[in-house]
Amino acid sequence: MSGRNLPTGRERAALVEEMFDRIAGRYELLNTVMTGGMHHLWNRKVIAAANLLPGDWVLDLACGTGSLTRDLARRVGPEGYVLGIDFSREMLRCAEAKPLPNVEYRHGDATDLREIRDAAFDAATIAYGARNIPDLDALFSGMSRVVRPGGRVVCLEIATPESRASQMFYGLWFDRAVPKLGARISGDPEAYTYLPESVKEFVAADDLSGIMERNGLQDVTYRRLAGGIITLHRGVRGL
Ligand SMILES: C[S@@+](CC[C@H](N)C(=O)[O-])C[C@H]1O[C@@H](n2cnc3c(N)ncnc32)[C@H](O)[C@@H]1O
Repeated sequence: MSGRNLPTGRERAALVEEMFDRIAGRYELLNTVMTGGMHHLWNRKVIAAANLLPGDWVLDLACGTGSLTRDLARRVGPEGYVLGIDFSREMLRCAEAKPLPNVEYRHGDATDLREIRDAAFDAATIAYGARNIPDLDALFSGMSRVVRPGGRVVCLEIATPESRASQMFYGLWFDRAVPKLGARISGDPEAYTYLPESVKEFVAADDLSGIMERNGLQDVTYRRLAGGIITLHRGVRGL
């Protein structure tokens, strides 16, 4: 599969949905193994970037098994509310197995938020979901619309690092170790070959900022985490 161009549109969505349905049961274990547990730290960075307060309402798109969703829910507390949306029913089933009173999960497409009214949320997040979504304008225009003026939109994603040292680590880890480790633990070689490929095909960090800006977000900034293998973008809906 290496070097192929990933499909777009409905074909890509079907591939991604089926893939996450297959690996759902092992997804969180693999995340922990692949990041050495660092994903919890990165979740906290998302929460900080979203400027969340107790009582806030948050939309977590491509929520998967709810790893970030639960952390968001703890942050906004019992007066707050988090809605997680994902199109993989199996990922959602795993999420629903760990319920919290202020969290709701819904099956749906992150690029089609028609059922959500304008300005309903204080913040919208997406973690490791954007690189699976070819239509980033649809994604960010929706996120921008459903947060209130002054609301935050945050995107956490895996990236190709810039420094040579990180690139070397990245090449060994993501291109070689992750597909083997992922295949062994999940029993699904395709899924963990797709992961590094989807990262390589994803837009550059500056371009992602541009996409967020042209979809109604202001003060867009990003930072690189973990030696540049993760990027954290943040924008604010204008007043
Ligand atoms: C790598 S997982 C990330 C899960 C979670 N955000 C986390 O932090 O662990 C990516 C998730 O994105 C979901 N996804 C990809 N494209 C989507 C779309 N267009 N609409 C809804 N969910 C989508 C997949 O089903 C999968 O659960």
